[in-house]
Amino acid sequence: MVLGWIPVTTQVLVGAGPAMTALRALIERVAEPRTTVLVTGESGTGKELVAKAIHDLSPRRANKFVAVNCAAIPANLLETELFGHVKGAFTDASRDRVGLFEEADGGTLFLDEVAEIPIALQSKLLRALQEGEVTPVGQSTPVRVDVRVIAATLRDLPAEIAAGRFREDLYYRLAVVPLVLPPLRERPEDVPELARFFLARHAQRHGRPAVELTDDAAAALAAQPWPGNVRELENVLERALVLAEGPVVDVAFLSSVMTMKPAAPPTPTDTELSIKKATRELEAGLIRRALGVTQGNRTNAAKLLEISHRALLYKMKEYGIS
Ligand SMILES: Nc1ncnc2c1ncn2[C@@H]1O[C@H](COP(=O)(O)OP(=O)(O)OP(=O)(O)O)[C@@H](O)[C@H]1O
Ligand SMILES: [Mg+2]
Repeated sequence: MVLGWIPVTTQVLVGAGPAMTALRALIERVAEPRTTVLVTGESGTGKELVAKAIHDLSPRRANKFVAVNCAAIPANLLETELFGHVKGAFTDASRDRVGLFEEADGGTLFLDEVAEIPIALQSKLLRALQEGEVTPVGQSTPVRVDVRVIAATLRDLPAEIAAGRFREDLYYRLAVVPLVLPPLRERPEDVPELARFFLARHAQRHGRPAVELTDDAAAALAAQPWPGNVRELENVLERALVLAEGPVVDVAFLSSVMTMKPAAPPTPTDTELSIKKATRELEAGLIRRALGVTQGNRTNAAKLLEISHRALLYKMKEYGIS
């Protein structure tokens, strides 16, 4: 039964255009079997939302959905995060630690930014997927796990394979069913419905009265390129809702909202001489500016900042930048 959207505990997958309709049908078909699914798409296209929708429609829905962002965890810690470790496995291991595979037993493990898993660890992941068992660091016997894996990436995995950064066998194992989320600019027909959905959702969240979007304003939104995809659209509508002075959002008001720039970073005063603190502030400010310039696209922001995508995500987490 399709109602134009799938209820997913607290969230819904909005969009009645052909791309979203086809995607929804595919989600319903892959939800039941334990098949591994690979969700690809640009930043902000809804990859995590889709992974959650698959879990919530699957027979595993009563069990855990465990999400891990492989780019946000330092490479040397990822193995113990995923597979766990036993007491004494290394200096800091003062007790056993259950890995995320075991934590997701009976449920779904969402491996976000899967392309960032170091190549040395990829073979261990492949083994876990093939054998259905994991071996915690420092332990000799494997543990059986019943986990459905959904992976996501914004990278072009065939290109990563060609560059020697991703194992081809792992790619085929992950992409048993590939789900491709088209960028928002390729499905402008979904923009008005998404925009009205976000306006209503944020009105509710902020305890504000409902605000209406004029048809002209909806059409203007649909004509935008949205490099940050659905997340960027959502942010614009949250800002519009918060700043709206009346019950209607029209084209004029929208364009004033969309041209607003994030504030400039603070500069250290001469009484503040800590290099460490100033460096952190400078870094956080540059990251915010880069994200502002790229409208939230982290891959492009990392390029501007001349740091790796992984380093950017790590610093964003450290400085509380979302
Ligand atoms: N079809 C949709 N309907 C409703 N909300 C959506 C839809 N697609 C995306 N969103 C919302 O947009 C935001 C971004 O989605 P999500 O986090 O799933 O994207 P993502 O592809 O995982 O992004 P990233 O690559 O940056 O991690 C979320 O708030 C999500 O709820
Ligand atoms: Mg995501």
